Amino acid sequence: MTKTIAILGASGYTGAELVRIIAGHPDMAIVALSADRKAGMAMGDVFPHLRHLDLPVLQRMDEIDFSGIDLAFAALPHGLTHAFAKSMPDHLKLVDLSADFRLRDAAAYKKWYGLDHGAMELQPDVAFGLPEFYHDEIARARITANTGCYVATTLLPLIPLLRAGVIAPEGIVVDAKSGVSGAGRAASEAILFAEVNEGFKAYGVGAHRHMGELDQELSLAAGQSVIVSFTPHLVPMTRGMQATIYAAGDAAQVHATLVAAHEDAAFVDVLPLGEVPQVQHVRGSNRCRIGVVADRMAGRVIVMSVLDNLMKGASGQAVQNANLMLGLKEEAGLMMAPMFP
Ligand SMILES: NC(=O)c1ccc[n+]([C@@H]2O[C@H](COP(=O)([O-])OP(=O)(O)OC[C@H]3O[C@@H](n4cnc5c(N)ncnc54)[C@H](OP(=O)(O)O)[C@@H]3O)[C@@H](O)[C@H]2O)c1
Repeated sequence: MTKTIAILGASGYTGAELVRIIAGHPDMAIVALSADRKAGMAMGDVFPHLRHLDLPVLQRMDEIDFSGIDLAFAALPHGLTHAFAKSMPDHLKLVDLSADFRLRDAAAYKKWYGLDHGAMELQPDVAFGLPEFYHDEIARARITANTGCYVATTLLPLIPLLRAGVIAPEGIVVDAKSGVSGAGRAASEAILFAEVNEGFKAYGVGAHRHMGELDQELSLAAGQSVIVSFTPHLVPMTRGMQATIYAAGDAAQVHATLVAAHEDAAFVDVLPLGEVPQVQHVRGSNRCRIGVVADRMAGRVIVMSVLDNLMKGASGQAVQNANLMLGLKEEAGLMMAPMFP
């Protein structure tokens, strides 16, 4: 039976990407869309590329009747989903794309987001939204917390390597790059064309919010505290994300571990040893591609991971989680090939 879907924050980039995916999903139908400033507008007026679709008008979240809705995606800025989750009807399932439920510890949420956690009583039952590692928890969950986009890019290679103990947990460096859509659609000086085009810069140096999630999940994987050096950079491209990871380990062993770990993963491709993945080869798809190259420094390895921040880094991952929560095929609606060039 077709599952009924609401998208909260549909007038943002990840919301629009959810609409694009679900428009081609065999088992989901969109029945409600919300916005804030754009409430009352037609989705096709906010996003003309979606004009051909028959979609509900954008309304305010509190105007939506959730009684006939199976699952809601919350594609809202952080700090808004706790209140919604506390008041939502019992039958409703929720996939949260924001950071509100990613951190299991209230103090960590306060440290990285500067806010008190508003729904700590729900947190213990929330699944961490990477199906490659939390498949069964997600399938049972009422609420799933999608990961941060840098976090998905980094964890897909690093969790199997730390679990297997084939890289040293100390001295890991994650050098990451993102396209500008990672910042969302709300206007901001830092992402104006004139300020981004033909430039390249690091940001959040030494203190990016995704570090909280990385600390949490990498330490769990290693069974000891793991703190990586993580520096994100803004690249003048629309979509795409890469993490280049430097660690102590043997390249052949690292490669074999990743191949085995992701053998059954529908959306993770581990390239042959020595090949280099490119963001252009995953754009518009739900795929993550991983490459492994031996460093010329003996005993060190370079692991590269690429994905589309709006897809496997956000809305594609969210639909993959929703498929599991709704008892659908994990790949449903998500097997689109990447766009190239
Ligand atoms: N962009 C990415 O690559 C990416 C990747 C992973 C995770 N995320 C996370 O996903 C979430 C959405 O990101 P995005 O890039 O789609 O953001 P966005 O483009 O800025 O969209 C935000 C959406 O939330 C709505 N909204 C804003 N303030 C609201 C309020 N007070 N009450 C109700 N609705 C409100 C906006 O409505 P109006 O347009 O009407 O103002 C819009 O629909 C964020 O938490 C972000 O961190 C984003």
